[in-house]
Amino acid sequence: MSVVPESRPAKAPDWDAMYRIGTPYWETSEPADELVRIIGEERLIEPCTTLELGCGSGTDAVYLGRQRFEVTAVDCSPLALERAHIRAERAGAVVRFVLDDVFEFAQEEGPFELIYDAGFYHSVRDYDLDRYLDLLWRVTQPGSLYLALVGAASGRAKGGPPQVAKDDIRDELGRLFDFVHLRECRLQSPLRRGGYRGWSCLMRRPDYGL
Ligand SMILES: C[S@@+](CC[C@H](N)C(=O)[O-])C[C@H]1O[C@@H](n2cnc3c(N)ncnc32)[C@H](O)[C@@H]1O
Repeated sequence: MSVVPESRPAKAPDWDAMYRIGTPYWETSEPADELVRIIGEERLIEPCTTLELGCGSGTDAVYLGRQRFEVTAVDCSPLALERAHIRAERAGAVVRFVLDDVFEFAQEEGPFELIYDAGFYHSVRDYDLDRYLDLLWRVTQPGSLYLALVGAASGRAKGGPPQVAKDDIRDELGRLFDFVHLRECRLQSPLRRGGYRGWSCLMRRPDYGL
């Protein structure tokens, strides 16, 4: 069974339940194409200390670990992290997985050279944008990079990720970061051949403050 959210939530969903009841729209066994393109093909980011927010079952964290990134990957779903540990062990990847609420985690840890999220910002902005921007500020320092993969309007496609307009991304994340690129990409999904339209947002925290 697939899990398709009906409408945008005003509060955080029960993430662990989404993993328990079926295959969520984001759950794939391969790393995100856009991540592989940026790291493995375009080489836009060198191995560095990396925090993945909402790592899910760890496909991207394992990929980054295998590319010699020093990855800390956080998720609040015990089931997703259980799967992530198994995935990392099978792949022989070194990843530090942390079962925690990222907002709690960010009180104690950081800064990191790279923040990565696939599908975290586009979910959390609906119910906790200000808190999320505060978190991003805490876990970065001037020069840190932030790569976010974000859902975009997908025409008549049903289900899939939340859809964010390019201008909203610029308004929200542009408060903290300069954009290196904001370009279209595909977000893979078990629900739809070819995936969904997405935005690849690569940003850098500038030297000056807010
Ligand atoms: C849309 S899923 C994306 C998962 C993963 N990045 C992927 O692409 O497969 C969002 C993830 O964020 C996690 N999450 C949501 N809120 C969280 C929070 N406050 N702290 C930690 N993890 C959270 C969920 O458990 C879920 O695994």
